[in-house]
Amino acid sequence: MAKLTGDTESGVLTLRVARYNPEQDEAARPQEWKVKILPGMTVLDALFAIKEEQDGSLAFRCSCRMGVCGSCGMFINGKPRLACNTQVSELGSVVEVAPLPNHDAIKDLVPDLSLTFSRHRAVLPYLMRRDTAEMESPTREYHQTPEELARYVQFTYCLKCSLCLAACPTAATKEQFLGPQALGQVYRYVADSRDEGLAERAGVVDASHGVFGCHLAGACSEACPKGVDPALAIQLLKRSLFSGPPHRSAAQVVPAFPEGHQTPEAAVRPKAPPPSV
Ligand code: SF4
Ligand code: FES
Repeated sequence: MAKLTGDTESGVLTLRVARYNPEQDEAARPQEWKVKILPGMTVLDALFAIKEEQDGSLAFRCSCRMGVCGSCGMFINGKPRLACNTQVSELGSVVEVAPLPNHDAIKDLVPDLSLTFSRHRAVLPYLMRRDTAEMESPTREYHQTPEELARYVQFTYCLKCSLCLAACPTAATKEQFLGPQALGQVYRYVADSRDEGLAERAGVVDASHGVFGCHLAGACSEACPKGVDPALAIQLLKRSLFSGPPHRSAAQVVPAFPEGHQTPEAAVRPKAPPPSV
């Protein structure tokens, strides 16, 4: 790989961006701009500087600009990352930016996430209960202990940014593979003591393109900006398919806080994954 060179000492960053316009390009082509480095500048800030001052036609996607919405995923210096959560000071003086691998590009840095979302929908990502009357017209709440919450809460932090899918070597070679985002979310629901949908979801994921398609490369967990660890979720999901969900029975409706849970503040609550921003 060519050595990257640049001009950080003079406070100038070179951005080499993969441009692609489906109306005129057969393939992506590189284009370079120079941007003045500002304190705290992120890759997203640098892209905005180009768009606002040099080339308004540059296309990229973002919304929250604070690592929450998951819409600014890009391939930055060879790794899938959130552009708003990546400081240019960590990257050297030349930064290469391309759209997420394993996704079609709509234009420039905008990936087509429709497959990610359709796979997510395919794994039935919602609580499923047999007591549908209670689900539709709840009388009280389902009882869940802090320990039961701790089994799945980490997996609820998924942004659907698709960085894990972009990093996955199996997804790169097997188009049908459901991928780490969708499979991780299957376990998020299977491990939730309020859920009774394992059998229905097994019909979707117990297949060669499903959970057993994972070769445990672990690249998904390394790429995840929220500490979700989809590789762990996939392994736990495999176990659940053989031995059932981690809870013995589904959470029941309780008439009031049970004895010993009168003061929720006193409960030991699971901790969120380490902050990424
Ligand atoms: S598991 Fe992590 S990397 Fe994958 S979509 Fe969710 S937040 Fe993004
Ligand atoms: S713009 Fe929302 S995560 Fe980057």
